[in-house]
Amino acid sequence: MTPTRDQAWELLTTYTKSESLRRHALSVEAVMRHFARKHGEDEERWGIIGLVHDLDWEQFPDEHCVRTREILTDAGWPEEYIRSVMSHAWGFVTDVKPEHRMEKVLYATDELTGLVTATALMRPSRSVLDMQAKSVRKKWKDKGFAAGVNREVVAAGAEMLGMEITELITETITAMRDVADEIGLRGETA
Ligand SMILES: [Fe+2]
Ligand SMILES: [Fe+2]
Repeated sequence: MTPTRDQAWELLTTYTKSESLRRHALSVEAVMRHFARKHGEDEERWGIIGLVHDLDWEQFPDEHCVRTREILTDAGWPEEYIRSVMSHAWGFVTDVKPEHRMEKVLYATDELTGLVTATALMRPSRSVLDMQAKSVRKKWKDKGFAAGVNREVVAAGAEMLGMEITELITETITAMRDVADEIGLRGETA
């Protein structure tokens, strides 16, 4: 079977009740879609993988990815999809190295969406719409800010993609603007 966005959303909302985690999933989905369009790839597939990548995180943080593999296998998802989901946690909880461009984008931007979100929320506008990469760049250097965001993973991901970090940030911000409402980053004034 080819998983649909509806099926992915159904699974996400079954296993993830927290608003911030759902927003994280939607952010990563938007970034994946953005990059798929940019490279003329299968937007639906990339987006779906982004949407479910942290499927088990809320309920089974100690078995991250292991439970997701089980859930997706039970739901009949193809192994290629599951493999791509696993690759986001390469070097931490899985040994599935990102190989396809889609997997590299997921690896590079998963953590970065967290830094973009945290930076946007610090701004007077609380919005991603009027934010530029340089704001995120400044927070990147402030290791105490959003300390949970692993800058090394983002840097390694950018390297895999052959992209400058600032360029990766710009693309990520652009993608997140597409879903500003859904991820709560449209801000107060708009
Ligand atoms: Fe994860
Ligand atoms: Fe994630």
